[in-house]
Amino acid sequence: MKKTIPDFEKMKQAGEKISMLTAYDYPSAQLVEKAGIDTILVGDSLGMVVLGYDSTVPVTMEEMLHHTKAVRRGATKTFVVADMPFMSYASLDLALMNAGRLIKEGGADAVKLEGGINLVPIVQALTRAGIPVVGHIGLTPQTANQLGGFKVQGRDLESAKQLVKDGQALEQAGVFLIVLEAIPSQVAGQITTELTIPSIGIGAGLDCDGQVLVFHDILGLFERFKPKFVKQYALLGQEAVQAIQEFHKEVKSSQFPAEEHTFALSDGVIQQLYGDK
Ligand code: KIV
Repeated sequence: MKKTIPDFEKMKQAGEKISMLTAYDYPSAQLVEKAGIDTILVGDSLGMVVLGYDSTVPVTMEEMLHHTKAVRRGATKTFVVADMPFMSYASLDLALMNAGRLIKEGGADAVKLEGGINLVPIVQALTRAGIPVVGHIGLTPQTANQLGGFKVQGRDLESAKQLVKDGQALEQAGVFLIVLEAIPSQVAGQITTELTIPSIGIGAGLDCDGQVLVFHDILGLFERFKPKFVKQYALLGQEAVQAIQEFHKEVKSSQFPAEEHTFALSDGVIQQLYGDK
């Protein structure tokens, strides 16, 4: 059964961990739902892992909508969170219009925004409008340039305290879940204790209320780089190349298609066709 926002709150209270995995299209969403994951994230990481961009910055609203719709069709019984792409929430009006589209047209159950205390007015406006919001603090890939690159955040006292304040401000503003990316486990643990909403970690240690990873990373389908926090549970990329090489060889050697892959006429029709020749 599809999880609800109160279910996530109850899971935190009961100490039951929350699993979140990205999905970007119909088949990946079907697989994630079949595996029983608690919630799907249509992450803007799709820009890098399925569209081949160098970062998440170029991802557009139209691309997010296209992929969110496909995920919704593939996973009808799973809670779906859709990322709002870079600059799609740069003002209150833009945020309301674009978040509304992800919910109404895309079929998402909630939207996710990257940023801390600065996002409070936007989170308030969205939640007032009835749009459930997920926060995302720590390493925020859309603004990685401002953070000095893809670096662990909150390593010194001041920035660790700021992350706790960001989490508290976002909770007060109305987010119901918060993603903590690439921060020391002790800082993530403190944020998790201070907040009543669940925290979902990615490179943030075991003390978070749940964990999120990228579909292509855990299955070994993205080979450009592998962050320290990724665990590969399969190497499907290698298996796929081997299978494709085999197909290539069998085409060249006329081993494929075999009889079982071929349609044939019945003897009677063959006779009629070639009988007089
Ligand atoms: O876009 C994404 O996949 C994300 C996760 C890494 C949390 O934001």
